[in-house]
Amino acid sequence: MIPSIEWIDNKVKMIDQTLLPHELKFLEFNDYREVANSIKVMNIRGAPAIGVAAAMGMALATIEYKKLPKERFLKEMENAANVIRNTRPTASNLFWAVDRMWKIVSSFPDEPSNISELVIEEAKIMAQEDVNVNKAIGKNGAALLNNGDVVLTHCNAGSLATVQYGTALAPVRSAIEEGKNISVIADETRPRLQGARLTAYELHYDKIPVKVITDTSSGLIMRLGLVNKIIVGTDRVTSDAVFNKIGTYLVALAAKDNNIPFYVAAPTSTLSLSETVDDVIIEQRDSKEVSNILGKVQIVPDGVECMNYAFDITPFRLVTGIITEDGVFSPDELLKKYKN
Ligand code: MRU
Repeated sequence: MIPSIEWIDNKVKMIDQTLLPHELKFLEFNDYREVANSIKVMNIRGAPAIGVAAAMGMALATIEYKKLPKERFLKEMENAANVIRNTRPTASNLFWAVDRMWKIVSSFPDEPSNISELVIEEAKIMAQEDVNVNKAIGKNGAALLNNGDVVLTHCNAGSLATVQYGTALAPVRSAIEEGKNISVIADETRPRLQGARLTAYELHYDKIPVKVITDTSSGLIMRLGLVNKIIVGTDRVTSDAVFNKIGTYLVALAAKDNNIPFYVAAPTSTLSLSETVDDVIIEQRDSKEVSNILGKVQIVPDGVECMNYAFDITPFRLVTGIITEDGVFSPDELLKKYKN
């Protein structure tokens, strides 16, 4: 699958994921405000991809402000950082990436003019790191999959949700590269249909067998014995739970009830173990995403309100294991390994 985002000639180039699967169109930005907006309106989405976009947005801001005197430069960069931070509240990669860039920006002794190259370099390093981490998650997770396994996934935690290769879909890709026959069942993932539109698109693109189901049928599909393992991504892992796309919690409950292993693929950039569930803001998006299918076909009568929480909480008791770039860990083992 082609990279979802790249830094090319001091511009940010990304796939417009709102148009998939019907059109593969690229957007190019040279203004950090445009990148921030692309995160908000979800031209780009998925925690790791949002993180890299945020980093590249900061790099664009350094190009815009590098000729300013240092104090003004820091002021403008602080403003740019806040504009990017205020796009979406739940994915921890967004804040991790801005903080990583801010550390460079704020600790730079010299005149701003030299700083932009460093920040651009760091954004490129983060993009490459993302791919390396996903490949490591793939290897670690592939060992969990047996030849012939059917893996159910929710939302899109694939190549499109990262720079490339994906997190939850990485073990599938790696296992297939190792010669195993693996197929995928993708929840459509209302209301923005990331499973039906994006997971199906990228797996079909890579000739990996995939079937799409309604979110409400995953419990029966498990009970019928049509699923061997479940692997989902995450937007934030706190010291007591996993945050991921709305509906993940219900998948985890059904998995428990049907004794199906439930794994979470989590780059360490998504771990936020100093927090608990009470510290996290769950994004609420426009109710039109619920009342109108993809902003078009209205399915809810005028005058009827909709609620649109974008993420939910899966407690650790429902999680079999968490796959990071360092290995596979039970929730307790994860806390021992990564919690300071
Ligand atoms: O609203 P989205 O599409 O950004 O939500 C994405 C998810 O919930 C993914 O599962 C998560 O970000 C992990 S992506 C590797």
